[in-house]
Amino acid sequence: MKSIASAPAKIILFGEHFVVHGTKAILAAIDKRVTVTSSFTDNNTIKINSELGTIEVPISSSYEVKSEFKPFIFLANKMIISNQNVNGLEITIDSDIPIGVGLGSSSACCVAATASISGLFKELSSEESLRMSIEAEKTIFPDSSGADCTVCTYGGMIEYPSIEKIDNTFDLNLVIANSMIPHNTKNSVEKVNKFKEKEFLRFSRLCELETKLIDEVITTMKNNDATTFGLKMSENQKYLEEIQVSNDTLRGMISSLKEISLGTKITGAGDGGCIIALVKDENMDKVPALLPKDKECFSAKIDTKGVVWSTIEE
Ligand code: PMV
Repeated sequence: MKSIASAPAKIILFGEHFVVHGTKAILAAIDKRVTVTSSFTDNNTIKINSELGTIEVPISSSYEVKSEFKPFIFLANKMIISNQNVNGLEITIDSDIPIGVGLGSSSACCVAATASISGLFKELSSEESLRMSIEAEKTIFPDSSGADCTVCTYGGMIEYPSIEKIDNTFDLNLVIANSMIPHNTKNSVEKVNKFKEKEFLRFSRLCELETKLIDEVITTMKNNDATTFGLKMSENQKYLEEIQVSNDTLRGMISSLKEISLGTKITGAGDGGCIIALVKDENMDKVPALLPKDKECFSAKIDTKGVVWSTIEE
């Protein structure tokens, strides 16, 4: 039997970084996916095939592997240990989510891998599956807020920590532009922790402002007011500038889209990665020409399905 699960990428519309320190955040799953396929083997190993390479290691929770493989090894060992009659697993990852650029590739992998591997044994509830995927993500990023795995699991747009889907009343024409500078979420989060230690009052104030901003965003959506929504995105970018997760490249990209967008900001950890812009329909075609030649961009649609799981009998 093959157990196949796929999970969507995500964007953070409001609240990245502050969410690690307890504020709410607004996130959406988007139409790029990772698919994880798992099957039993008789090799007494865990084998992982991905675009980052192939590894095959003995079944043992103490076996050290490169960080990007850790969540899969963790999940495989966890399931094997609680299900005695298993002699090995093979896990294959196929992804169309760019890696390390703030689109939640590792969270989507953790969510899809949890559903795929556990699906060989028993179907988990969404709550159990989410809990396990966050545990897996914490093997590489212990400070994770859990927001990314949550939106990848449930899909749609959510006001984290709630999993209720937000009904957006206007069409969000979102463009994602990749700075092509890979980032490291762990390092950016540690940098923000240091900022918080040094500038505690300023940081607390920014958390309050973020909370207020998110409440206002919910109202703008209820009022069908895309213009104010865009302004709030740009306001959020100011807070991200203050906590120093932006840089000249990202600022340059944001300013090149200024004339045609209602609002633009970093999405994800920053220090590289992607920006998102809310763009009016008639301006969508103008985006590529405005960005520097070496940047990639695409328009994103909101994914409503979240994680999807199926099996194939062989
Ligand atoms: O850049 P990404 O996709 O790893 O997103 C990180 C989002 C943070 O808020 C910075 C961290 C978190 O766990 O929420």
